Amino acid sequence: MKILIIGGGNMGLTYAQSFLNSHITTKENMMILEKSPEKAAQLAKKDIGTVYGEAKDCIKTADLVIFAVKPQDCEKLFADLKPYIDLQQVFLSIMAGVKISTITEVMGAKKVIRAMPNLPAQIGMGMTAFHSTDDVTRIELVMVQNLLATTGKTLYVENESSIDAVTAISGSGPAYVWYFMQSMTQAARDMGFTESEAELLVNQTFRGTINLHTKSNLSCDEWISRVASKGGTTEAALASFEKNELKEDIINGAKAALDRAIELGKK
Ligand SMILES: NC(=O)c1ccc[n+]([C@@H]2O[C@H](COP(=O)([O-])OP(=O)(O)OC[C@H]3O[C@@H](n4cnc5c(N)ncnc54)[C@H](OP(=O)(O)O)[C@@H]3O)[C@@H](O)[C@H]2O)c1
Repeated sequence: MKILIIGGGNMGLTYAQSFLNSHITTKENMMILEKSPEKAAQLAKKDIGTVYGEAKDCIKTADLVIFAVKPQDCEKLFADLKPYIDLQQVFLSIMAGVKISTITEVMGAKKVIRAMPNLPAQIGMGMTAFHSTDDVTRIELVMVQNLLATTGKTLYVENESSIDAVTAISGSGPAYVWYFMQSMTQAARDMGFTESEAELLVNQTFRGTINLHTKSNLSCDEWISRVASKGGTTEAALASFEKNELKEDIINGAKAALDRAIELGKK
């Protein structure tokens, strides 16, 4: 199967390297289309496949085409590709906010998969949700799921609208986690620790907690009640969070991200 990745930026490169590292494909079967000559030259040096600068030189031989350009670049891209596409080709788009109907209507493609990855995909710890048109066969869908799984976990969603909710949870989620880490680091600095000491305390607390959580069958609630003994320090912090409605704030923040994803999707 020949794979063409369009856009050799952060995500395009992440996919190319993940596919090769997991041996799911070979560099002989990988093509990358990158419009920036500087980036194309850098990509060519990485020896991860054949690098092209023009769609017409590579699109026809591709079985799977991955759109990894910024959403604002898709209009021009679709216009360039339209004369060359074949209805048997599978198109996988990771462009935020670009609906499947846009791809089918503007390009005339039938087999379209829309996926929403997140940043940890860069280290194989990503979370990617995806949805497809009915024309994508079961075998093609499994094949694409296997490719996406080289960057982390995957989840098939029955409705495309769920992609907006995924954007609000796992897509934007890493920034919520960093926000919490940043707040705790600030608290540690306020208590007299140096920047590097504060970062060590916070980073290791997050790493350890996530690993512990992953290795156990306990829920967040169960873990919290184990840690927060009556009249203790953790309980004091949690009581302050509750009083200040921190949980509601986080939920409202995620809902604001969902509203924005829906709004951007309409443009
Ligand atoms: N980063 C994430 O964690 C994440 C998560 C979810 C979804 N996404 C989606 O992933 C997509 C790619 O993001 P990114 O961060 O990888 O972007 P990026 O680093 O800007 O990479 C996009 C690359 O595509 C090139 N390009 C633009 N139009 C092209 C065309 N017609 N043909 C060939 N190459 C073209 C750009 O070149 P120029 O620089 O010269 O324009 C750039 O090198 C976006 O749509 C984003 O919504 C990203």
